[in-house]
Amino acid sequence: MAQSDDAFVEFDHVQKSYDGENLVVKDLNLSMPKGEFLTMLGPSGSGKTTCLMMLAGFETATYGDIRLDGKPINDIPPHKRGIGMVFQNYALFPHMTVAENLAFPLQVRKMSKDVQKQKVMRALDMVQMGSFAGRRPTQLSGGQQQRIALARALVFEPELVLMDEPLGALDKQLRETLQFEITNLAHQLGITVVYVTHDQTEALTMSDRVAVFENGRIQQLAAPATLYEEPQNSFVAQFIGENNTLEGVVAEIKGDTCVVKLDSGEVIDAVPVNVSKVGERTKVSIRPERVEVDTAKLGPNAHTLKAEVLEFIYMGDIFRTRLKVAGIDNFVIKTRNSPDQTKLTPGTTIDIGWLPRDCRALDA
Ligand SMILES: Nc1ncnc2c1ncn2[C@@H]1O[C@H](COP(=O)(O)OP(=O)(O)O)[C@@H](O)[C@H]1O
Ligand SMILES: [Mg+2]
Repeated sequence: MAQSDDAFVEFDHVQKSYDGENLVVKDLNLSMPKGEFLTMLGPSGSGKTTCLMMLAGFETATYGDIRLDGKPINDIPPHKRGIGMVFQNYALFPHMTVAENLAFPLQVRKMSKDVQKQKVMRALDMVQMGSFAGRRPTQLSGGQQQRIALARALVFEPELVLMDEPLGALDKQLRETLQFEITNLAHQLGITVVYVTHDQTEALTMSDRVAVFENGRIQQLAAPATLYEEPQNSFVAQFIGENNTLEGVVAEIKGDTCVVKLDSGEVIDAVPVNVSKVGERTKVSIRPERVEVDTAKLGPNAHTLKAEVLEFIYMGDIFRTRLKVAGIDNFVIKTRNSPDQTKLTPGTTIDIGWLPRDCRALDA
C-alpha cells in the first residue's frame, strides 16, 4: 500500500473482528503526521477503544496494517514502541507512592536511579504535582490521580501518547481545566496524541483533527471547524453540535446551490453536499445560529419560510427559540443577546431564511 512520507501513525485498510464473524472495525484508513493531536469521537461501541488497543499492541488487526513511523507495529516489541497510555480509571499502582508509580516505566527501561529521580520530578512539575511525590494514590483526589496518570504516561518521553476517555470520571470544571492542560502539554512537548472520547465538545476544543466514528467506520476526518461547518453526511451533522433537519426532495440543482422541495410543500435553498440529481430524497441540515429572522439581510431571491414561535428561552448570552417550521415543531434558532435583538413572542408568526451556503443537502 502507498505510504505517505510524513505519516507517523498509519492505519491501512484495517479490519477487526473479535469473533471471526462481525467486524467491529471496517476498512479503517488513517494517517497522522508527527505532533498531531487527533481525537477519535463516536458513540459507545463504535470501535474507538479497539483501534487504540490495536495501536498499543494489546489487540491485533484481523486484516490490514498499522504502521508507526513507517514500520508495521507487529515488528516492534511493546517496550520499544515508545507509547504512553492514559485510561479513564487512572490505573495507578495503589501500593506505590506517586514517585514510585512514575519511576516504574523508567525502571522497566533500566534507567539509572539518578536519571529516574530527575525525570520523575520533571514530570510531576509538568502536571503541577511536585509536592505530592510521597503520597499514595488513595490520598489523592480523582483529578490529582488523573494528573499523576498523565505524568506517568509522559515520564519516559514517549513520541506517541494514547488516551482513552481520560477525563470521563471527573466533574465538568476539572475536566475543562485538564483538557486545557493536556493540549498545552502535548503541544509544548511536541508529542503525537491519539485521544478517545464520546464527548463532542471535548473533541472540538482539544484536537487538531477529529475522526468521527460510527459502527466501525470513520464517517469524517477533519479539523474541528470543518467538521462543524461542513459535515459530509447526516450522521456527522447530527452527531456534532445542534442541528435542524428538514426532509424533502431535490427539485433543482444549479452549480453550487440547489432547491429542495420539503415534504410540507415549501421550497428552500441549500448546498448540494451529497445529493447529485433531481428527484433524490435528502435531509437538509441547518445550524440554529445560522437561521436569519431579519430576512432583509438575505439575498433578493432567497426563499423564506413561515415559522410559528412556540417557545422563547432566555439563556443569558443567547436566546434559544423553538419554532414550528415546515410541519416540525422542534426547529431551534439561537440568537445573540445583543441590544438590537428582538425577543420573539410565542404565538406569533415570523419569516425565517438563511444563506444557501449555511444549509446543507445531505443523504436522506
Ligand atoms: N474484547 C472484546 N471481545 C469481544 N468484543 C469486543 C471486545 N472489545 C470490544 N468488543 C466489541 O467491539 C465493539 C467496539 O467496541 P469498542 O472498541 O470498545 O467501542 P468504543 O470504544 O467506541 O465504545 C463493541 O460492539 C464491543 O462490544
Ligand atoms: Mg471505549
